[in-house]
Amino acid sequence: MANEFFSHLRTFSEADWLAAVEELQPAIHKVDQDAVRIWFRFYPLELRLYIEQAEDRKELERELNLQGKYMLENSIDTSHHFLYGHRYWKSVKAAVNEEAASFKGDAKPTLVELIKAVAANSAKNAGVDTTLVTAISTVGLATFNQVGADEFQKTPGEVAKPSGAMSGSANSVAAAREKDDSQGVFGFLKTVDKKYTVAFTSEDYSGKFKVYDDQEITQAAGQDRSRDWKSLDKRCWQGPIPIECTAAACGTCWVGVLGGKEKLDPVHRRERYNVKLQGYNQPEEERPYLRLACQARAHGNVTLVIPPWNGVFGRQIYKNVEELELAPATTSAKHLRETIAAGTKAVAEDGSAVENGKASE
Ligand code: FES
Repeated sequence: MANEFFSHLRTFSEADWLAAVEELQPAIHKVDQDAVRIWFRFYPLELRLYIEQAEDRKELERELNLQGKYMLENSIDTSHHFLYGHRYWKSVKAAVNEEAASFKGDAKPTLVELIKAVAANSAKNAGVDTTLVTAISTVGLATFNQVGADEFQKTPGEVAKPSGAMSGSANSVAAAREKDDSQGVFGFLKTVDKKYTVAFTSEDYSGKFKVYDDQEITQAAGQDRSRDWKSLDKRCWQGPIPIECTAAACGTCWVGVLGGKEKLDPVHRRERYNVKLQGYNQPEEERPYLRLACQARAHGNVTLVIPPWNGVFGRQIYKNVEELELAPATTSAKHLRETIAAGTKAVAEDGSAVENGKASE
């Protein structure tokens, strides 16, 4: 039964999953509406299927510049740590397993029907409203679809008790993400010296740092020396956000914006162009929930989630970037960083010059 269920799930494409996530938005509490969209960008099905077909994983990692933990098998119980519904994971996991066990191959339910069934059962198991578990139920089914029945059933489903900014009610967490730091009694007189807070979370660490109005997020992150970030994630060589080129070229700094996306600068041409090459499936919005942190300037408090991996796979996976030309010398982020560190001039992937980590217009 579980194998038939898996086969049925595999009939749906990444586009089908994304469409289901959008159709279900009204049934999802506000706190997890963008969070579930972000999860599906962090774990794209098309990339997963491409990886499954590879004969040589090491060669593929080199080809796609894959760094970090990009396979869901390593994080079945944790990849969704940034969803409010993460706290109900054990109930969701049980509901997905029940759905798989009782699946009848001739039924052919749609994705939305399956998600609603799992959400209803999860809500009953957890004793909460379905709006709190619909997003995490979608993630539960998508995780089953990626890792298969055996791997999915292997993990205990235990999750840590919510703490810090995630410890309140769904309404209070959503409301807190919208607030900006007070600028004091004379705040109206301040201009560039306004200061805000960037809250961040990853699978392995979380925290906050300050950002000046109109400052790039990675530049502000680089000033946070409160911990040895590199010991937590080797991609974090300057602050808590993984970084390489600071010029939109490598994709290392991609982040999901859980709160405050409207307080970031609009996406500029270079970011839009290079994210397509990187393959991150950034929505075509002026201020989307998926950004390159080295290109995003803050104008208020924002809440970010850092994915545990990065890569460059737009051309191979989505094949919609044929008209874009990669400059071979800059496809290696390491090479680009070395070039920048040497103070010499490099060429960004859109053909513009890069000096000292900044692409000139
Ligand atoms: S550090 Fe932002 S794209 Fe390279």
